[in-house]
Amino acid sequence: MIAIRGAITVDNNTRDDILESAGILLREVIKSNQLGIQQIVSVIFTATEDLDQAYPAEAARKLGITDAGLMCQQEMHVLGSLPKCLRVMLLVDSDALQSDAKHIYLRDAVNLRQNSSFIAITIDGPAGVGKGTLAKRLAEALGFTHVDSGALYRAVAYNCLETSIPLDDVDRIKSSLLDLNICVEYKNNEQIVLLHGSDITSTLRTPEVSEASSVTAAIPAVREKLLKLQRDVAAKYNIVMEGRDIGSQILPNAQVKIYLDANIDERARRRLSERTHMGITTDLDTVKLEIEERDFRDMNRKHSPLKRAADAVLIDSTDMSLQQVLETALGIVYIKTGGSYGIHASQSLKSDCIPHNLSNQSNRG
Ligand code: CDP
Repeated sequence: MIAIRGAITVDNNTRDDILESAGILLREVIKSNQLGIQQIVSVIFTATEDLDQAYPAEAARKLGITDAGLMCQQEMHVLGSLPKCLRVMLLVDSDALQSDAKHIYLRDAVNLRQNSSFIAITIDGPAGVGKGTLAKRLAEALGFTHVDSGALYRAVAYNCLETSIPLDDVDRIKSSLLDLNICVEYKNNEQIVLLHGSDITSTLRTPEVSEASSVTAAIPAVREKLLKLQRDVAAKYNIVMEGRDIGSQILPNAQVKIYLDANIDERARRRLSERTHMGITTDLDTVKLEIEERDFRDMNRKHSPLKRAADAVLIDSTDMSLQQVLETALGIVYIKTGGSYGIHASQSLKSDCIPHNLSNQSNRG
């Protein structure tokens, strides 16, 4: 048995708003935790005293939760507490661990999250799909920090190449981690990677480092070393973090998870365009082979392989422009944050909020 918590704010103290908000909250708790209705043993709602037009548990019945024990209570007034707020606790018959429960906080209630008051948006996907470009534009549009987790894995690989550690010498790589000092800083929303205090950001996206990074990223000690760094950033800022295992391993409780995909030919074309922008001469077949090999390694490694988290929303960007992908992502953010961030699907980006350089598609990542 596990207990799952959630909360949402309501716009108006009306029957319709209360039931609609309670329904949104319950659906999100059920979906994020992949619950079957029969697993739900009881649903307990509380409402702040400024909400009195309907019992939110009616929403549970409407969703087909008829066998569970339902209860609603009005909360005592606590000075400074969030107004017009519904809270819920579901008791669920499950073999999962209590620590696996995904608690859901929507709209202004996101600020009630126990461990972090920051929003995390994760974007995972294979090489060359445009994760980096989407994450950067999304972060700009939302005013969030863009975290490129791949750059950290690249920094480890760069260090091996620079210090001539063979990539198959796992023991030497492991001992090199002991005093490897990698940090990230954010200046003007650009991520800067420091290796022993020196800025190595501009050296990290060469084909050699790309290749080496997916070899060293398969070593569990490397992943362990970088895990804390990634979680620490997520605890300090509202972030859009891109990578391979962000939604599945690094930030399993992220409010918004996107899995970005595209077919291999399109990804190779995007990566070739990035390389050309960087002044690197290569050809489509070489790039295609390189990303195919890297994807194979990333998807088939034993620890934290690239995979779509069960609750990640898939965007297949093969035939989509960057603007379409961005608008789709902002629509997903809108739904997942209960309208607190992002844009409603019926709106398109207004020109004044189109992130700059949108037309300059340097599709990287
Ligand atoms: O930009 P691109 O998708 O080509 O690569 P990246 O995101 O910079 O990641 C470089 C390599 O780091 C990947 O091929 C993965 O092997 C590894 N990586 C990882 O294992 N986990 C992450 N969260 C991010 C990157």
